[in-house]
Amino acid sequence: MLKRNIAAIIINSISLSTLSAQQRTTWVGAKKTVNAYHYVQTKSAVYKNGAVSSAHPLASKVGAEIMKHGGNAFDAAIAVQLTLAVVYPGAGNIGGGGFLVGRKKTGELIGIDYRETAPVNAKRDMYLDKDGNAQTSISQNGHLAAGVPGTVAGLFETMKYAKLPFKQLVQPAIDLAEYGFVITEREASNLNVNQDAFIKYNTSTPVFVKVNKWKSGDTLFQKQLAATLRRIRDNGLKGFYEGETARMIVDEMKRGNGIISLADLKNYKAKTRIPVQFNYKDCKIVGFPPPSSGGIILLQVMKMVSKYPMATYGFQKQQSTQLMIEAERRAFADRAEHLGDPDFWKVPLKTLSSDTYIANRMKDYDPNKASKSSNIKAGEIKESEETTHLSICDGEGNMVSVTTTLNGSYGSKTVVAGAGFLLNNEMDDFSIKPGVANMYGAVGGTANAIEPGKRMLSSMCPVVVLKKNKPYIVAGTPGGTTIPTSVFQTLMNLLEFNMSVDDAVNKPKFHHQHLPDEVYVENGFPLDTRKQLELMGYKIVERSSIGRTEVIRINAKGGIEVAADRRGDDSVAGY
Ligand code: DON
Repeated sequence: MLKRNIAAIIINSISLSTLSAQQRTTWVGAKKTVNAYHYVQTKSAVYKNGAVSSAHPLASKVGAEIMKHGGNAFDAAIAVQLTLAVVYPGAGNIGGGGFLVGRKKTGELIGIDYRETAPVNAKRDMYLDKDGNAQTSISQNGHLAAGVPGTVAGLFETMKYAKLPFKQLVQPAIDLAEYGFVITEREASNLNVNQDAFIKYNTSTPVFVKVNKWKSGDTLFQKQLAATLRRIRDNGLKGFYEGETARMIVDEMKRGNGIISLADLKNYKAKTRIPVQFNYKDCKIVGFPPPSSGGIILLQVMKMVSKYPMATYGFQKQQSTQLMIEAERRAFADRAEHLGDPDFWKVPLKTLSSDTYIANRMKDYDPNKASKSSNIKAGEIKESEETTHLSICDGEGNMVSVTTTLNGSYGSKTVVAGAGFLLNNEMDDFSIKPGVANMYGAVGGTANAIEPGKRMLSSMCPVVVLKKNKPYIVAGTPGGTTIPTSVFQTLMNLLEFNMSVDDAVNKPKFHHQHLPDEVYVENGFPLDTRKQLELMGYKIVERSSIGRTEVIRINAKGGIEVAADRRGDDSVAGY
């Protein structure tokens, strides 16, 4: 009976929509009870029938409830993303884009590309001033930073694999936006840090601005977002890409000198892509192809290290770490030169993933000293920090891995007035000028130059892994350019170093991306390995946490082991 209202089931089985305004106020006022119930984060668990790992406990819980009430992993992925758009506004979104890699219980592999596109009025040099200098302030903030959002189209593309009606999947998000939810300390702090930006980059004050500062336990209401979600519920794709919501987006653009038009919105299409697939030992890894670089980087680095006895070298020992760094250096050099939207640029995928090419790339690898990025160029081709990830498995054999983003934390910081959602700042993922780094330090050239309608190159790397053709691992993470290297390490931790899912996610991570020629390490990275690497010529730089990885592994008894990253408010749920 409460199927229509999963959020209500979560909240002490009360159907919020049936309460009077007075009762709702009382309910919202009972923050402590609700808070205690909502924010118990479960970091790892083993479930029998279905599991979700995502950036927010409410979103994971919604996903688990959806599966419990007859949905499959695809239904859950839709509901979790919509819920994240409400409860995790820094990255969860309807104003951004993402990639889904999935495996249907029939064995069919699925890739859905809902990456944002450059508006039709975008120009290659739109972020250069009259002297030709790159202006990253406008590619990263405000109206002009936004690409045409893809998420809603992606969700409806995913509906092809779902079992429940969309209106059931969106209702928890509507309720949480309408009746509010209690924010965590981390969310309060993130919102406070961005107060000035929210004021600067908006033409009317969004709900994220609070004069007296946010604190944990406060309730965030998003009535305008609830209304937008209802328009999507009632009108489908047209509820976002046409009609009132589209008009609100375009009006917002006009007020803030943005360029997204009604035609851009109406013409946006999610695309299906054939996933990147490769074998590693007895596993098949399935990742996302361009316009993300994630799958191809993962393929390259895993093939590069596969010739070496990684397990014997050991976890984060000098030999294994150095080899992984050198593989990363080479894959990222290729990324900068060769990767872009395949609908606009001939990506030499076949060569980049061939065994001969990859063996050649490692020919100058010296296990005794650091290579120099200045000597490592992209291979010759003879052929012509805020994102979020969710991993889901159901008991039927469906697996879904989704990474979705606004790009930076709270995207462009611009909220569509009246519609209540944040727009992405994904235009910065294009190479706005050859050699100029984007906000994650990635450089590029013509392959990833701005063109109307083109998708900007991504590093997002959702993966599913099969063993003997059966579901085995679902993984992914946010983190800009550190995404493919974090997924790489997580898979190595599971496939080579025999770790629990919890350790695979939470052990310190490291990262190299060709340029700058530095190795980033997280706090806790082993000191002796660090010293040995420094002696070999590596510049090691400690940095803030890398990624928020969400992992599921099916164990030999069929148990669904699931872990959420301890670096954030992430949480698992299941049944
Ligand atoms: O698509 C990309 O590669 C970036 N827009 C991802 C940004 C990201 O992961 C931010 N998260 N921390």
